[in-house]
Amino acid sequence: MNNSKGATGALHPASAAILVTGGAGFIGSNFIRYVFNKTDFAGTIVNYDKLTYAGNLSNLADIEKKFHNTGYVFERGDIRDYAKVEELIRKYGITIIVHFAAESHVDRSIFGPKEFVETNINGTFSLLEAARQLWAERSDVRFHHISTDEVYGSLGDSGYFFENTPYDPRSPYSASKAASDHLVRAYYHTYGLPVTLSNCSNNYGPYHFPEKLIPLIILNAVEGKPLPVYGDGRNVRDWLYVEDHADAIWQILLKGRAGETYNIGGECERENIEVVNAICDILEELRPPKDNTLIRKQSPAVGRYRELITFVGDRPGHDRRYAVNCDKIKKELGWSHRHNFEEGLRHTIEWYLRNTAWIEQIKSGEYTKWIEKNYTNYKKLKNEGQG
Ligand code: NAD
Ligand code: TYD
Repeated sequence: MNNSKGATGALHPASAAILVTGGAGFIGSNFIRYVFNKTDFAGTIVNYDKLTYAGNLSNLADIEKKFHNTGYVFERGDIRDYAKVEELIRKYGITIIVHFAAESHVDRSIFGPKEFVETNINGTFSLLEAARQLWAERSDVRFHHISTDEVYGSLGDSGYFFENTPYDPRSPYSASKAASDHLVRAYYHTYGLPVTLSNCSNNYGPYHFPEKLIPLIILNAVEGKPLPVYGDGRNVRDWLYVEDHADAIWQILLKGRAGETYNIGGECERENIEVVNAICDILEELRPPKDNTLIRKQSPAVGRYRELITFVGDRPGHDRRYAVNCDKIKKELGWSHRHNFEEGLRHTIEWYLRNTAWIEQIKSGEYTKWIEKNYTNYKKLKNEGQG
């Protein structure tokens, strides 16, 4: 490493001013909630978010109410806006940047990759430049970059992703995340910027935007709509409850070593069809179809939620299996996941059943139109024999 600046100063995450990018999204909002409610944090969090279709301030309504002007601030803006980020760093005395902001949905990246390159690559570059400027002025700086296990590509029936697994991204989403990871590491090696990275497996939990598998299946089932399963339904994902991810990131801020990457996973491999079946079975109990007025209206012939499962054309370039080895973060930082899948999934389903106002609010016209177009495209692929 060519660290022209020298040693890093001591970090004090629990009392620092932290810039969280993308804090109005799914994982970012859960992270902010976790830090305020479950750690001894007494500093300031500035949530910097553009509020794209995926960003939603009501994800943090409770935190806003409790901590507004006493530790929590929201600032709207784009991570590509270097001047604005610099201004915020000065205004709030930011020393730590925790970077979640991204375009995050693989299907969207297939239909429109441009935004992914612009936000995930150019946006990360712009933030790194702002962090480099800060690093030139003080030594107690940290840039934590949130990434995904998808940068490692697709596994066969065996094996795991380790921190040194070669990158092999296969969707525009994962390619853009891979590029951003490379930039972050380059800033460490070239400029000595104290960075850490984490590559995490699939998250699930409250406030998950309903274009992703688990919330989409829950909401469609409750409404008596088809449950779309891509391809043969046997692709495997490694599921982690979102609060466990938040805890892992916090442990990295507290104890992680600059320049290091930490894999984070749920050690919970499930085929997609198993996940969909599990959601159907929990719903049978929590909201039996015979008592569900929406089912009676939308699909009166349906007696069991599993009858709504519909195999559709496959996602192009669909990665077969992800599985993360997280021994490093366990051994070095003492982290391990606390929620098992069955308990976390039940809690998540209960949350979606309770939070109908949140669901109605995010079902904007733009989002609904996108979903319709997306599934029309998959149906087309299937009919053309490509699915
Ligand atoms: P999300 O789509 O729910 O939220 C992304 C947030 O970023 C939104 O609030 C959005 O408004 C904001 N944003 C987008 N573009 C922006 C821009 N140009 N400037 C400022 N803000 C912008 O995503 P998520 O699921 O919460 O994922 C957060 C991060 O975690 C991403 O970097 C993603 O790659 C990574 N990740 C996600 C998962 C997962 O399972 N969801 C797993 C591993 C890693
Ligand atoms: P997703 O939640 O989009 O996360 P990722 O693509 O980042 O893993 O998808 C999880 C898995 O579920 C993935 O294998 C694709 C599949 N899937 C479906 O079968 N049907 C759906 O409607 C969606 C959104 C995903």
